[in-house]
Amino acid sequence: MKYYITTPIFYPNASPHIGTAYTTVAADAFARYHRLKGHDVYFLTGTDENAQKIVRTAESQGMEPLAYVDGVVERFKALWEELDISYDDFIRTTEERHHEVVKKIFTKLYEQGDIYKSEYEGWYCTPCETFWTENKLIDGKCPNPDCGRDVELLKEESYFFKLSKYQDALLRHIKDHPDFIQPASRRNEMIKFIEGGLEDLCVSRTTFQWGIQVPFNPKHVVYVWLDALINYISALGYPDGELYQRYWPAEVHLMGKDIVRFHAVIWPIILMALDVPLPKVVYGHGWYLSKEGGKISKSRGNVQDSFKLIRRYGSDAIRYFLLREMQVGTDGAYSEDSLVERLNSDLANDLGNFVSRSLAMIVKYRGGVIPKAGEPTELEAELRALGQEVVAKVEERLEAHDPAGALENLWRLVSRMNKYVDETAPWTLAKQEGQQERLDTVLHTFAEAIRVLGILCAPFMPKLTGKMFRQCGISDELLAWEAAKEWDVLGEGIQVQRGEALFPRIDLAQFSIEEEKASVNEIKETPAVEENKVEFEPIKEEISIDDFAKIDLRVAKVLHAEKVEKTDKLLKLEIEVAGKPRTIVSGIAQHYAPEDLVGKHVVIVANLKPAKLRGITSEGMILAASHEGVLEVLVLDKELPAGARVK
Ligand code: MSP
Repeated sequence: MKYYITTPIFYPNASPHIGTAYTTVAADAFARYHRLKGHDVYFLTGTDENAQKIVRTAESQGMEPLAYVDGVVERFKALWEELDISYDDFIRTTEERHHEVVKKIFTKLYEQGDIYKSEYEGWYCTPCETFWTENKLIDGKCPNPDCGRDVELLKEESYFFKLSKYQDALLRHIKDHPDFIQPASRRNEMIKFIEGGLEDLCVSRTTFQWGIQVPFNPKHVVYVWLDALINYISALGYPDGELYQRYWPAEVHLMGKDIVRFHAVIWPIILMALDVPLPKVVYGHGWYLSKEGGKISKSRGNVQDSFKLIRRYGSDAIRYFLLREMQVGTDGAYSEDSLVERLNSDLANDLGNFVSRSLAMIVKYRGGVIPKAGEPTELEAELRALGQEVVAKVEERLEAHDPAGALENLWRLVSRMNKYVDETAPWTLAKQEGQQERLDTVLHTFAEAIRVLGILCAPFMPKLTGKMFRQCGISDELLAWEAAKEWDVLGEGIQVQRGEALFPRIDLAQFSIEEEKASVNEIKETPAVEENKVEFEPIKEEISIDDFAKIDLRVAKVLHAEKVEKTDKLLKLEIEVAGKPRTIVSGIAQHYAPEDLVGKHVVIVANLKPAKLRGITSEGMILAASHEGVLEVLVLDKELPAGARVK
């Protein structure tokens, strides 16, 4: 089966944000799911660069439009890379390959009489890049509920596209294809809108030059929406390209609810006029709203720096949150608090805990080797049945473009597995002589569950799946969707490799108050290219060389490390310095697994007054650099003897 999926092409008039990222992350999850099913997938995203608002923003920055968008496009690409977006192509509407197709289509529609020249008189909203008639305005402003901004009176010679001619054909198509516009609420909205009567659409502008010139009348540039929608086929090389022959029609155009109207009315009419098959589904999801309730958007200025968020929490956690939090057919609420809450409960407590407990028991009771399973009992039979039910539900929800529903179902299996650990109590079985085969079965079931959950998580959190497979010693060749339906895949003898925690618990308070303010309440309109400017703590007051000489810094060798019980943050390190052992308690457990540090030569403050932390006397402090949630212990490249001075 072939599967062509698209995101909207984004306006590069500011850096992408967490709201913009939702559509792309969701499209990526669907694309990955279909690839895992063995389908022939093509995933397109890109940028919509020929808009009037781009010219205005570039001007306000004193830049040429193309130089300006080049910078922002790099930010989009960088964000998609950080978020593991597996797109096959990224189209920019300033590319020649796109211009050519738009020109060809404009000319064809003109020649067949679907585009004609006349005069436009009406109102234009530049932020929405939309024409309005006088009677639609609300208090003389843009009637789009998300906009409400000033509109400008236009009176210019224009080309018009005969939408009205195709109105009945479009209604018929929508009624004959109940799945064409989804979800159903958007479909009903669209039917009402079309039944209200379509007016011919103004499809050219003469008051500025930025954009694609109308080939037979270069005074005009093509209206940005007509130009933009064509990206879905220009990227495939319409009309003769191999990709076009192979992938068109699209399986789904995914987008926010704000732009369904353009995709469910103008786009199908362009395609009908070209006698090209229509996409199968136009899906409009809700918006991410900020805590205060407004849409997260560049213009509202309530945008958090997505790069910073990824650095703090990792791309998997961001992907999980975005996909899990917005329920199908409604808007979602975004706040950093709820992101942390989900991370700690669903990812660290539920999934992370299950994996780490399971692997720890395989290590403890079977030396890290997955044992051969004994006879399954009713309990295992029940698990398998639930596993199969969950896979079927996840499939159904993904096919209905409902990632939150898919994850909700997936987590039923995660919870069940945690319960299974408690029910089977391997720590008790381990002490009972006659229960060794039963213990084998339970431990084997843990490993199979890690495998199944790893596959099911792959569309949503690709990095996580890699880690789960690696820690459980499972080969990547076993990463295929159908394999999640089976429970007897792993043989015996696989060596597990425990690694660092999949999702360390996060305490929002660990980020400094200033940083908090700068990021959570970032209500400021900064130029796009500067949005990711790094902020540092101010340099402290001057000290004399004598003050500095009081601090005795030494090289120390880490002999042993372990987690301090009942905390997520502390590691207890046994170190050697100047021929003597010492204990140091350090708040680095969320960044280093104990085994990562053993044998390393680090730097300590050797004459720091001892202090008690969780009842343990800490004799000194390890030096580490930290920035925006990332922490690095200072480790010597070359080994100097433990005790050497650092100055
Ligand atoms: N350039 C047009 C689309 C042309 S498609 C042929 C456009 N661009 S946009 O940059 O304004 O972004 C559009 C898309 O970004 C929305 O449709 C939606 O998919 C996504 N989102 C932007 N803000 C969002 C939220 N706060 N929440 C969810 N999605 C949001 O319109």
